[in-house]
Amino acid sequence: MFNLVLFGPPGSGKGTQSENIVTTYNLQHISTGDLLRDEVSRHTPLGTEAKKYMDQGMLVPDEVVIGMIDSKIDENPDARGFIFDGFPRTRNQAESLDKLLEFKNTSINLVLSLEVNETDLIKRLVLRGQTSGRSDDTEEVITKRIKEYHLKTQPVADYYETQGKLERVAGDNPIPETFKLLTKNINKYLLPVA
Ligand code: AP5
Repeated sequence: MFNLVLFGPPGSGKGTQSENIVTTYNLQHISTGDLLRDEVSRHTPLGTEAKKYMDQGMLVPDEVVIGMIDSKIDENPDARGFIFDGFPRTRNQAESLDKLLEFKNTSINLVLSLEVNETDLIKRLVLRGQTSGRSDDTEEVITKRIKEYHLKTQPVADYYETQGKLERVAGDNPIPETFKLLTKNINKYLLPVA
């Protein structure tokens, strides 16, 4: 099994690149943002609670997202591997993921960090906000999401760097070029299926 974390700030292209990676390597995509938005749209108790944090650009409490990940992994016992998009986002989530995977006799193989400057991130998300309908794609909330990233999520990169699993990839090129850079790293571990 091959497990990949696609890491980076809001708007760095994690969701966009995940779609390409999933098709090319036949991995199971787990996006905590998508899972949470699904809960919100179905007005579940979890979704109602999560929305309060998401609308303010703040991270949802760790225990909520860790529980979602656990069930999602168990739903896909035959997966070739997983691509974690938007998770882990705190050191506590990263440590919990390691424990969870160890319990399932697997581990994180590679963490690819998409590096994009802040001006471009804001531009991309404001542009997407014109059509996405996402309540957190306003300039005010985007700024808060980026602050939250620097405060709570960036330490996760150090966590994986210490383990020798982190590779930084330029994310400010056009989408196909960024994809090529990502595949260069993944190909060292896994052959494409498409
Ligand atoms: P989440 O949904 O994970 O959002 P995010 O990480 O803040 O950022 P995005 O998904 O908006 O960006 P992305 O990096 O995927 O970029 P994308 O490919 O979409 O989280 C939302 C909220 O949920 C959080 O704020 C939090 O409240 C909660 N949450 C989620 N996970 C959590 C967790 N683990 N713990 C706690 N809370 C959690 O691209 C963005 C735009 O840029 C698109 O329009 C795209 O077309 C464009 N684009 C992409 N690549 C390029 C390129 N190379 N050039 C030009 N444009 C590009």
